[in-house]
Amino acid sequence: MSDTTDRHGRQAAVRSGPRLALVLVAAATLVAGVSIFAFTPTASAGTTLGASAAEKGRYFGTAVAANKLSDTTYVGILNREFNSVTAENEMKWDATEPSQGNFTYANADRIVNSARANGQQVRGHALAWHSQQPGWAQNMSGTALRNAMLNHVTQVATYYRGKISAWDVVNEAFADGGNGARRDSNLQRTGNDWIEAAFRAARAADPGAKLCYNDYNTDGQNAKSNAVYAMVQDFKARGVPIDCVGFQSHFNSQSPVPNDYQANLQRFVNLGVDVQITELDIEGSGTTQANSFGRVVTACLAISRCTGITVWGIRDTDSWRASGTPLLFDGSGNKKAAYTSTLNALNAGGNPVTTPPTPPTTAPPTTPPGTPPPTTAPPTTPPPGGAGCSATLSNNSWTGGFVTTIRVTAGSAGTNGWTVTVTLPAGSAITNAWNTTRSGNTGSVQLTNVAYNGRLTAGQVTEVGFQGTGTAPSGTPTCSAS
Ligand code: XIL
Repeated sequence: MSDTTDRHGRQAAVRSGPRLALVLVAAATLVAGVSIFAFTPTASAGTTLGASAAEKGRYFGTAVAANKLSDTTYVGILNREFNSVTAENEMKWDATEPSQGNFTYANADRIVNSARANGQQVRGHALAWHSQQPGWAQNMSGTALRNAMLNHVTQVATYYRGKISAWDVVNEAFADGGNGARRDSNLQRTGNDWIEAAFRAARAADPGAKLCYNDYNTDGQNAKSNAVYAMVQDFKARGVPIDCVGFQSHFNSQSPVPNDYQANLQRFVNLGVDVQITELDIEGSGTTQANSFGRVVTACLAISRCTGITVWGIRDTDSWRASGTPLLFDGSGNKKAAYTSTLNALNAGGNPVTTPPTPPTTAPPTTPPGTPPPTTAPPTTPPPGGAGCSATLSNNSWTGGFVTTIRVTAGSAGTNGWTVTVTLPAGSAITNAWNTTRSGNTGSVQLTNVAYNGRLTAGQVTEVGFQGTGTAPSGTPTCSAS
């Protein structure tokens, strides 16, 4: 997803909504004759964290707790200083699917709606994690857990599709200690490929979001970060969709900012992914703490694909580690020395962001293990070769629902446009589709190109998809080109 920077220096992940909201709220402010802290135009570029980061093509974000959105001091700082937010707990599995198949988004929506109204982008956190699982998932194992996890990823990423700049698809899957092993968890015991299965499901559900792997104690080069590095290298080699690696960066005196922090970020970038600082907090006070924040920010800005920094809370008293006073504002909301060093480091320069644009096509998902192989009947007519186009389908299915990815391949003459016809089994229905215009939602359904993916050169592939209830379609769809 590309970012735009508005005149307040805020980046907008979604182009039209936030700006319109800004205008409307600003107009309402004028009419009411009152000042709203968030929109006073004194926040010129370089004088707030978000504006300064935006000048460098980056975001500066914070974790937000929904229950603090009624605290005016908190909200004032949030909307003055930050242009990205992460839900601190509200998008986690226990919060969004408290009983199986029952999805609750009210608290997460409060954060997303507040962000969109204030021109802030949203990092999604976190789809699949060993911690903060609902009780019902903690008690599951094997294929049932694998399918429940994939359904969770699909449902949540689909619900927020188009509103999330980057998802932490998988969080904290590697063990601490010297051997670089995976962390033991119920998810890990479903099979080593659970991570790639989660990434494929997330890509199918929200093709526009950057997909990140996120972890802690990976901030310098060590056995754990080496293992994450090897996984990312393998994913890139095999076409598993991954776009970014998140470095939580929770530091204290036992675990300080490593000397090779920048070098470690750089080696991940060299694999072809973005890097992001996702949960920064540094216990301490005064100059020592301020210098550490400055080092982290300087390291990120030196790296062209370090696209943004998120601190894990606003005031020290908001922190999950409040006794360590690890944030940029004190309990009263005053700027600390750490704030000043952070802003100075943001303003001091660094390299502009140069992230290659994400191509509109993605690697084909493979069916996750544990899912029965699709019972694909042999096509009665061969897929069109030569001119025209051909299409194949693949499914991520669970009890009662599915996501289908359609791969369209242009024939030797290329296409100006195309239409794929898929037949759904009786009783199945499409609930939403992406990258395509759909006619009908049951029986024989026609999927036609949208503006960006109609014109394909010979052999070029594009992917579209849909989600539905019931049983997934099988067989080979027909494709006609214009
Ligand atoms: C923490 C929250 O800040 C706390 O409110 C909650 O009680 C526990 O989780 N790594 C992560 C975050 O990825 O989700 C965690 O957030 C902190 C560690």
